[in-house]
Amino acid sequence: MADTLFQPLVLGGGALRLKHRVVLAPLTRTRASEADMAPQSMCAEYYQQRASEGGLLISEATNISMESCGYHRAPGIWSEAQVSAWRCVTDKVHDKGGYIFCQLWHIGRVSHPSWSQHPLLAAAKASGAPMPSVSASEVAMPGKTYNVYPEGSKGPNAAPRALETAELPRLVADYRHAARCAMRAGFDGVEVHAAHGYLLDQFLRTGTNHRTDRYGGSVENRSRLLLEVVAAVLEEVGVGRVAVRLSPTQPGAFDFFGAGDENHMDADGCNVTYRYVVEQLNAKPLAYLLLTEPRWTGGRQDNDAEKDPGFNMPITNSSTYRKIYKGVLMAAGGFVPSTAAEAVAAGGCCDLVAFGRWFLANPDLPKRIQAGAPLNHYRRATFYTHEEEGYVDYPDLAGSVGQAGKYALIDASALVAPKAKL
Ligand SMILES: Cc1cc2nc3c(=O)[nH]c(=O)nc-3n(C[C@H](O)[C@H](O)[C@H](O)COP(=O)(O)O)c2cc1C
Repeated sequence: MADTLFQPLVLGGGALRLKHRVVLAPLTRTRASEADMAPQSMCAEYYQQRASEGGLLISEATNISMESCGYHRAPGIWSEAQVSAWRCVTDKVHDKGGYIFCQLWHIGRVSHPSWSQHPLLAAAKASGAPMPSVSASEVAMPGKTYNVYPEGSKGPNAAPRALETAELPRLVADYRHAARCAMRAGFDGVEVHAAHGYLLDQFLRTGTNHRTDRYGGSVENRSRLLLEVVAAVLEEVGVGRVAVRLSPTQPGAFDFFGAGDENHMDADGCNVTYRYVVEQLNAKPLAYLLLTEPRWTGGRQDNDAEKDPGFNMPITNSSTYRKIYKGVLMAAGGFVPSTAAEAVAAGGCCDLVAFGRWFLANPDLPKRIQAGAPLNHYRRATFYTHEEEGYVDYPDLAGSVGQAGKYALIDASALVAPKAKL
């Protein structure tokens, strides 16, 4: 069955010639340098370890501008220092015959105004550069946040500044600039992150978008900013080099940063907001559309993979939107090798599967899946630390990278109870 994951696939009208369907999902790993928010040499090593001949990696979410920042030690892609640091990463991936897309990120209200004290931002603030935190409307996230500057502090979420209509072309230009930087850094394409309750998703969702201009209200208006960004980035980097990530809400799904959406599901089981967006994306020559499966729990069961209900829950988003989206569809969230192989089999619900937690813990995941080999168990405690541990020390089967024997092994077939198989 795993064979279905090892069928070639041409993306972007020939721009990418994949040899298999096992993709590295975008994963924030917070190992960039503090001072200039650029990837460090261990980041190049991490991506190199996970690259494979004809395999696709998606970078961690990467800030498009100073205004977009808010996660400690997440990288950016707007400055020359960042472009040259990312070049070291992309060169290493290409040396192994792999491809890598850059995920373009603006976190919007998930940031905190204290971020303007970061030395890199403070210098620019003095000359009037836009600062965090902004959103579609002045709706604060519920609860407290760790995205406070400096690192280690925690505070109540502040209401973001609502972006003015007149400055939205500037925002689109920021995405365009970041996309240009990404291509100069050697990326094979860019993925517009419009999922998980970050800025573009804040415009899509009624809970966070209360605007009365042409970017708020109707679904056409709430989708406008995303579609303008996609059009601009496509114009900048070219056909087949742009992808989009969405996380359509399903009833009872994980609620990303409290960004609610009151829109209903239609008779096909589609949230009407996302149905409209996906239909619009059909007209764009994308490399792929990545959908987050709502069965991903966002971390609560990460300490005990065997008990993660995501692995035993049906795939909902990609099977639903497969009927609407005409291009290459990628799914992520709660996949194990067997469910991934079924998902891409003939008549399945997607063309590619992005693995998050299993790929971060298994640098040679495609090889392990092909061989039916056991997987290194991931360790959540080091997902977001800033050191090499939990980042570049997961071993491969060949014993050429990482520390052999450091992580417990798990038989992947044990992760899906037979009765709950898809
Ligand atoms: C440590 C970690 C960091 C993540 N960072 C990002 C990110 O930067 N961008 C993004 O779109 N999704 C991010 N996600 C979500 C993953 O891309 C993926 O959808 C999720 O891990 C579910 O897939 P899995 O069950 O294979 O782990 C992250 C998930 C984890 C566990």
